Amino acid sequence: QELDCILRRMPKAELHIHIEGSLEPELIFRMAQKNGIKLVYPSVEALRAAYAFTDLQSFLDIYYAGAGVLQTEEDFFDMAWSYLERAKADNVIHSEIFFDPQTHTARGVAFATVINGLHRAIERGREELGLSASLILCFLRHLSEADAFATLEEALPFRDKFIGVGLDSGERGNPPEKFAAVFGRCQALGLRLVAHAGEEGPASYISDALDLLRAERIDHGVRCLEDPQLVARLASERIALTVCPLSNVKLAVFPELGSHNIGRLLAEGIVATINSDDPAYFGGYLNENFTATFAALPQLGARQAYQLARNSFEASFVAEETRKRWI
Ligand code: HPA
Ligand code: ZN
Repeated sequence: QELDCILRRMPKAELHIHIEGSLEPELIFRMAQKNGIKLVYPSVEALRAAYAFTDLQSFLDIYYAGAGVLQTEEDFFDMAWSYLERAKADNVIHSEIFFDPQTHTARGVAFATVINGLHRAIERGREELGLSASLILCFLRHLSEADAFATLEEALPFRDKFIGVGLDSGERGNPPEKFAAVFGRCQALGLRLVAHAGEEGPASYISDALDLLRAERIDHGVRCLEDPQLVARLASERIALTVCPLSNVKLAVFPELGSHNIGRLLAEGIVATINSDDPAYFGGYLNENFTATFAALPQLGARQAYQLARNSFEASFVAEETRKRWI
């Protein structure tokens, strides 16, 4: 109970949250009705009941369908504002938020509509919630690198509204090397670089994300333990992993929380963090990820709690002076 209190109350940063994954079923239904979009699910309950995933792809199919209700700048604002209010309640003081523009531009929604709505929510979050947040544009790795380049071009007029780029969607069969050129261009533009790797894909995808994409942080990365040399490298170079325990169980990366390797990652000296990934789909926001994971793993206590909070600030992309103040 005391540990729960520490976990819930400690200030923390969230570094792995897909804003489209914060869209709750109630909001999906409200937006579908408002925008005249027909959903294949008759009710909020029926939609929620469909959230029974067997792997990453089975989730992505439903996640992209859900995001299909977003049409106007107001919709993107409302989605992000709901997340920020929820994050504030979990004592998140800083959040680096992924968004998937290709999911929306492919449906005819303008890039400007997406980013302006999200950005306006972030501005209001800073003013009204005292929460700092920034955006990271994710390329969908099941699409081509040419598509990613085209998206980058569309994004450049809004360069001041996002801090970096990431890589998400189906990992297997879409290795880091597929996006080496576009990440090279992003690096030259001074963008921060992250990539999902080692969630479903092998440990070699983590090494390749570091060497071929110059990723500064790895999203998930839990399969690094399959390669002891990689573990040593991650620890010595202080390359952070943004781990998402509830997501990992829902997508069958681990059979249950009790077999999750987050305790091992910390014991190996890796800068691991805890994050929610797609909280509306995986059964909990950030504090639920913390409390459920700590409840399931007896080797985690107050020491690890503070370590994880400290790691979240160290691994963030905020200015050095701010980071020092938080740590
Ligand atoms: N992995 C890959 N793509 C995603 C995820 C994830 O966990 N969440 C949303 N898009
Ligand atoms: Zn993710």
